[in-house]
Amino acid sequence: MKSYSIALIPGDGIGRDVTAAAWTVLETAAKNFGFALTGTEFPWSCRFFKETGRMMPEDGIETLRGFDAILLGAVGWPAEVPDSVSLHGLLLPIRKAFVQYANIRPHRLLPGVTGPLRAEGFDILCIRENTEGEYSGAGGRVHQSTMDEVAVETSIFTRAGVERILRFGFEQARSRRRKLASVTKSNAQKYSMVFWDEITRKLAADYPDVEVTSYHVDALAARMIMAPESLDVVVASNLFGDILTDIGAAIQGGLGYAASANINPDGSAPSMFEPVHGSAPDIAHLGIANPIATIWSGAMMLEHLGEKAAAGRVMQAVEATTARGIGTIPGKDRTDAITAAVVAALT
Ligand code: NAD
Ligand code: IPM
Ligand code: MN
Repeated sequence: MKSYSIALIPGDGIGRDVTAAAWTVLETAAKNFGFALTGTEFPWSCRFFKETGRMMPEDGIETLRGFDAILLGAVGWPAEVPDSVSLHGLLLPIRKAFVQYANIRPHRLLPGVTGPLRAEGFDILCIRENTEGEYSGAGGRVHQSTMDEVAVETSIFTRAGVERILRFGFEQARSRRRKLASVTKSNAQKYSMVFWDEITRKLAADYPDVEVTSYHVDALAARMIMAPESLDVVVASNLFGDILTDIGAAIQGGLGYAASANINPDGSAPSMFEPVHGSAPDIAHLGIANPIATIWSGAMMLEHLGEKAAAGRVMQAVEATTARGIGTIPGKDRTDAITAAVVAALT
């Protein structure tokens, strides 16, 4: 029997509930489709930080390297550990160390879910650059706590980094509706974003079958709300992609529906699957977190592992569940009830 080793990092807050939910669904799918998933859980989180002074052990990255994939819930408990410490100690180093440069975030409405828009029938695939740009971590502060203080946060964009994410987007567009939106702010940011636009134009020559449009991020943000059906694949830098995908989540009906795959496209290290949302401290411990985003991310993991039939079946089960009105209204159905309904639809 084929077997896949999965590193499970539930993390903080609702991360624990939604990964448990997704794991239940994934194990059921594996059983039905005749393969095995072996989960190894790591307690790395803000609680772990309070106990050990680190978000993950020093050899955490090396420990994860041997797994076929990583399923993560959410990281962050800002009341006790500053986000700048927790995220830079766990989530962001994994994306970078494993060169998970393509962050894929699909946005479409599940049956029975009424998003806040009157629009219907949109199907957007956001491809977010995931290892550099505004998240490079380069910068510093001088003259701290004086009126002369200056804080600098440098965005680093490399030709290799921009080319590979745009090519990834072009390839995705080829397998879909052949439309690519490349997102920058080149009217205001004259180095990195002009550079990105130039590379977009250069690569467009290699993909004559794909219709490419360059948008400014502010206009694209409005378009995602006013005319989401006009968009197919959207490629954006790390920060712009982060913001646009919370808009994507919103038009899908909420953060509880938005899935995400941090892909290492050449397979040289594991890829990581997680919902777009965070640890939701405001609803943690209430048992009402929507697990669908994480279950959907789990389906993306199965697809990445090559278990396409099982992945498709999980999505069918999610769709059958929401079509019955379960998990369609935030807070109405408990995490366990939504999970049980998806599992029942699988069998
Ligand atoms: P958040 O995504 O945790 O929550 C935003 C809002 O969406 C909240 O009202 C929350 O209740 C709601 N929400 C989120 N997921 C939901 C779900 N599955 N079901 C129902 N409602 C849901 O964003 P935040 O409040 O800005 O961040 C909280 C913490 O999570 C911070 O520490 C932040 O840095 C961290 N965070 C982590 C990740 C990650 O690990 N990938 C992502 C985003 C935020
Ligand atoms: C996300 C999150 C993270 C990001 C944070 C928690 C660092 O918002 O995955 O969208 O900005 O990448
Ligand atoms: Mn985000």
